[in-house]
Amino acid sequence: MKRYTFLLPLLFLLITLSAKAQTDAGMDAFVKKLMSQMTLDEKIGQLNLVTAGYPPTGLGVSLGVEEKIAGGQVGGIFGVYGAAKVRGVQELAVTKSRLKIPLIFGLDVIHGHQTIFPIPLGLSASWDMNLIEKSARIAAVEGTADGLNWTFSPMVDIARDPRWGRISEGSGEDAYLGSRIAAAMVKGYQGPGLSQNNSMMACVKHFGLYGAAEGGRDYNTVDMSRNTMYNYFLPPYKAGLDAGAGSIMTSFNVVDAVPATGNRWLLTDLLRKQWGFKGFVVTDYTSLNEMIEHGLGDLQTVSALALHAGVDMDMVGEGFLTTLKKSLKEGKVTQAEIDQACRLVLEAKYKLGLFEDPYRYVDEKRTTSDILTAEHRQAAREIAAHTFVLLKNDKQTLPLKKQGANIALVGPLADNRRDMLGTWVVAGDWQKSVSVKEGIQHVAGSGVNILYAKGANITDDTAFIHRLNFFGQEMVSLDKRTPDEMIREAAGAASQADVIVAVLGESQSMSGESSSRSDIGIPASQERLLKEMVATGKPVVLVLFTGRPLTLPWEAEHCTSILNVWAPGTEAGNAIADVLFGDVNPSGKLSATFPRSVGQIPLYYNHKNTGRPYDGSPQTKFRSNYLDISNDPLYPFGYGLSYTTFSYSDLKLSKTALKGAEKLTATITLTNTGKYDGEEVVQLYISDPVATISRSVKDLKGFQKVMLKAGESKEISFTITPEDLKFYNSDLKYDWESGEFVIGIGTNSDELKSGKVNWTK
Ligand code: BGC
Repeated sequence: MKRYTFLLPLLFLLITLSAKAQTDAGMDAFVKKLMSQMTLDEKIGQLNLVTAGYPPTGLGVSLGVEEKIAGGQVGGIFGVYGAAKVRGVQELAVTKSRLKIPLIFGLDVIHGHQTIFPIPLGLSASWDMNLIEKSARIAAVEGTADGLNWTFSPMVDIARDPRWGRISEGSGEDAYLGSRIAAAMVKGYQGPGLSQNNSMMACVKHFGLYGAAEGGRDYNTVDMSRNTMYNYFLPPYKAGLDAGAGSIMTSFNVVDAVPATGNRWLLTDLLRKQWGFKGFVVTDYTSLNEMIEHGLGDLQTVSALALHAGVDMDMVGEGFLTTLKKSLKEGKVTQAEIDQACRLVLEAKYKLGLFEDPYRYVDEKRTTSDILTAEHRQAAREIAAHTFVLLKNDKQTLPLKKQGANIALVGPLADNRRDMLGTWVVAGDWQKSVSVKEGIQHVAGSGVNILYAKGANITDDTAFIHRLNFFGQEMVSLDKRTPDEMIREAAGAASQADVIVAVLGESQSMSGESSSRSDIGIPASQERLLKEMVATGKPVVLVLFTGRPLTLPWEAEHCTSILNVWAPGTEAGNAIADVLFGDVNPSGKLSATFPRSVGQIPLYYNHKNTGRPYDGSPQTKFRSNYLDISNDPLYPFGYGLSYTTFSYSDLKLSKTALKGAEKLTATITLTNTGKYDGEEVVQLYISDPVATISRSVKDLKGFQKVMLKAGESKEISFTITPEDLKFYNSDLKYDWESGEFVIGIGTNSDELKSGKVNWTK
């Protein structure tokens, strides 16, 4: 028997494959039978996704929702959550509609459901796939406890332009890091299997290239070479799908001059034929109708275009519902196209187990046992603390002492619960979040003396405030006091303090959808407060809230320390205090470059060299540079400090000449040379200086997050194979080319220990 144990994995694989084949066959038979009973109207009804009571983010809202559900004109709904509410709506579908087909229930569960985790850009700065997956798992447990089974996440759009407000919703600028995160999030949401009642179907979005909107202006034109798409922008979508995501959402922009929602090359040739995607495609909010404004024709024309391109479900626009029947009659779409879309939507419902039990996700008991639990909040606190990026820490001002310090705590975000959560928190209740002031009180207790003063408004610009308060609530308000009075109060607090902690930056509605900014600095009112604080000559710790990379040249020069905390979520204040007082040593690294000035954008680490590369000086004539500023970022991709220090030994390469499929081991010794235990993200980059196309100067190819005790050393190795050398060439063939490669390992994309190898085919 022992002799055959090596066959066990094979046996297991065969059993799994045959079980899958059985489910697929079972699903096929079930869906076929159901479809044979469906009228054309009922089939088209399955392609209709409606919203209920959601803040409209597009052209209008859904009307007559209840009648439509009862009439079999709806396949799914989003914006309804809470077990009792979901039960009520599902009842309409399964008792009133003729064929009793259950609805799918979606929501934007983006960074947590009710327990809110850091915004995705923050999560990505943890470079910790376990924590990211855990945040998505908890989000799915809570979302399903609220009756949901479909989340419009992960957003995997690569963004190189921090003016774009939605950079906050993604994982930054890098395809490799973005792909790893896409997979981790899909795994977290979908858990051990879609039919589990605590798993949600993921929806990778926005396909595609939405993050490359010109000028960083939301919904704007995208114009990109196929080569750049394949090498830098498409991989995270594919990674999310390869991890098993059941659905994908189209984007608002054009791809090669055709709107993504009607782009057959994108949705069929690439997505289905090249990538083999088997799930369903949903439009973004009225993106189907928006093709009219894009100049592609009237509603009937664009609806036919979308169906033919490969869209299966129409979000809110009702172009499918109102025109497909006519188009079929007129021969503008085929029955096979309608059937195919309907089949994919029904298959998703089958995989979610909804035909077995339409109330599978409705369990009123779970509402109290599974949502905002102490365990979830504790996870949110730990995860948040791992996303903070220490940008500067002069004279080891941080961590602060828990005993005896007089701390002036100033800024409009210091005693503020609302802005802790960040963008896209549909079900998160800001009143349940922990402010920075409360967090400091919890962590340092009576050991420290807190002298609090608000010091400034988020902004004094009333027109800007009006736009920030778009949804009608008073998200940002003006204090009754004048700016001068507020500053005077803050100066009073500062005069009695040993250290000033200024909690400043972007409020919740300053980033996210339709929140592009042309000036990405800290608003003037807060900047003025900061300058007053710095003028006291006391150490100033800037705790920076932001949904995007900001331009911070003045802050970087004059603040003593800067801790970038993004928007950390429900446990914001506790997590910030944990880091400020040293219970957690910061270990986050930037996933997007911080420029010095808006004029440098787009600025990203894996740019090409140009024929006249920058030589480090803005002065040199006839070079690719600016007359008035250096090309360098303020903080590069991968950058982030710790309370301790790390040193990297020289790089050791196992070989310097390799052939074919051989493997290379690249090793450095990492030493924690400081006083604190700490984590470091060791990053691997590869350059390919000579190839048949102009390659980027370097590309991230691996990373490891390593914990070292103070004084400890560890050898860190990466195994490199030809797979890591591959790229899309000018024929869009994915392969590698013989030649010299530079292998770099280091603490960020700019500080690398490197060595060269020759690798031939
Ligand atoms: C956004 C999507 C979102 C959808 C539904 C749109 O405006 O672009 O990301 O999932 O609304 O809320």
